Amino acid sequence: MKFMETIIKKIDKNNIEGNTIREAGEILKNGGLVAFPTETVYGLGANALDEEAAGKTYAAKGRPSDNPLIVHICDYEDLRRIAVNIPPETDALAAHFWPGPLTMIFQKSDEVPYGTTGGLDTVAVRMPSDPVALALIRAAGGFVSAPSANTSGRPSPTTAGHVIHDLEGKIDMIIDGGAVDIGVESTILDMTVSPPMILRPGAVTAEMFAEVIGPVDIDRTILNAESNIRPKAPGMKYRHYAPRARMMIVQGDIRDEILAIRQLAYAAHRRKKKIGIIATSETLPFYKYGIVKNVGTRENEKTIARNLYRVLREFDQEDVEVIYSESFAMTGIGKAVMNRLEKAAGHQRIDAAEIVKLQQYRRIIFVSGTDSARGPIAAELLRHQDLLQEYVVDSRGMVVLFPEPVNQKAEAVMRSAGMTMENHFSQQFDGESIPDDTLVLALEEGQKVKLRAEYENIKNIFTLNEFAQDSLEIPNPYGKPLAAYGECLEALRKLTGALAEKLNSMAEGEELWEKYM
Ligand code: TXA
Ligand code: MG
Repeated sequence: MKFMETIIKKIDKNNIEGNTIREAGEILKNGGLVAFPTETVYGLGANALDEEAAGKTYAAKGRPSDNPLIVHICDYEDLRRIAVNIPPETDALAAHFWPGPLTMIFQKSDEVPYGTTGGLDTVAVRMPSDPVALALIRAAGGFVSAPSANTSGRPSPTTAGHVIHDLEGKIDMIIDGGAVDIGVESTILDMTVSPPMILRPGAVTAEMFAEVIGPVDIDRTILNAESNIRPKAPGMKYRHYAPRARMMIVQGDIRDEILAIRQLAYAAHRRKKKIGIIATSETLPFYKYGIVKNVGTRENEKTIARNLYRVLREFDQEDVEVIYSESFAMTGIGKAVMNRLEKAAGHQRIDAAEIVKLQQYRRIIFVSGTDSARGPIAAELLRHQDLLQEYVVDSRGMVVLFPEPVNQKAEAVMRSAGMTMENHFSQQFDGESIPDDTLVLALEEGQKVKLRAEYENIKNIFTLNEFAQDSLEIPNPYGKPLAAYGECLEALRKLTGALAEKLNSMAEGEELWEKYM
């Protein structure tokens, strides 16, 4: 396609510059293309009643021309010029949801060219609420066809920057009205059937329709992986909204999702694969490996809808190979979010519980007398082992009255071995709420016996020797010269090596990672 100069103009929604709108309106009237903000996503506008203009839209987007366009209007009366056999419920729906994120499908009038409807006898119509969009539609003569202003197959644009990235040089003008409010495309409701049917979920939900006109149907391909059923909205069949990376949705209860994604991210880290994680404000702190992005808060699905496409685009910029996404509540706009995620993922899902059960222990606590030498040494040594699974490794003491730094000789021998425990302060063991995926390893038999007697709730208490299946004695260096600490370190090095081997032999599913990354 021949490159052209694209005019880019900023506009203030609260103080709309008339000249910009007039200029854009003239371009549309003359058969040109103008991208503009709506409350859902940015649209790529053309004169809807001009067959040739619609054709240009397909070319600019690189979109198959059997995929029909939505006609945007700014006055309810104008609906009657482009649609016929308008069912009576339309008035109530328009009164409640127009202008706004709702598209309705009707039989088309003769005024609408087949080039706009992708050859269909029906037409999709929407009256957006964004004041810039309304002013532009009016300036263009009242009927503006607009698909999302992205290159076909890319996430829909939620900022002018996204449009510039995809379409600069291919269209006449881009109006920059800042970031959109909603972030996912309008709800599409097919009014040619009774009851009306939702073909694409959006900010207006089935529950909201039900309150106005009673129950509506939902196209069952919306959240379904069955590829042999054809979605009723032609555009929904494409692997739309697709990020460049392979994407997978991790599904389960939230705890399982976090643990499973941690396991996947750790396995990827070991394989030096660059991966992304779609997380929320609430879950962000749990992830240590991979590029983690906050898509919004679980307390408000609207924030997730608003950020979703931006986050997917950012991952493209980062060149990650795989993206793991948490799944989100299906309430309110959540259904639209999950529908877009499913499409971005090409319906690839991972059952979180399946992954979680591949790892038996997640936390290891070494317990010694005062948590000032042997325990912290063992913990630090284990952290330096090559482990197939990720563990949170800590140490605690049987009797710790107040936090103290480690024994100076212990630190000295660790330093000469290239490690340090300078951030460690001794801490009393507290066995009250230790979950079953925690492994408690005492350094002496007596300590183990005592712990077992005191904490019947803890499932996994062993000595380090016992669990590592190695009878090597751990000398107690306390009060002895530096050399004794050195001997202790060497013994613990061998034992933590044996422990690592034991843990690695228990790590299941190693061969599975290929499938998930
Ligand atoms: O929020 C939105 O609706 C945005 C903004 C720009 O208004 N527009 C948008 O357009 O998402 P687009 O072209 O990306 O998606 C339009 C969807 C496609 O899935 C298309 O197949 C469907 O609407 N559609 C359009 N006309 C239709 C018709 N007559 N029958 C069934 N589906 C139709
Ligand atoms: Mg689109």
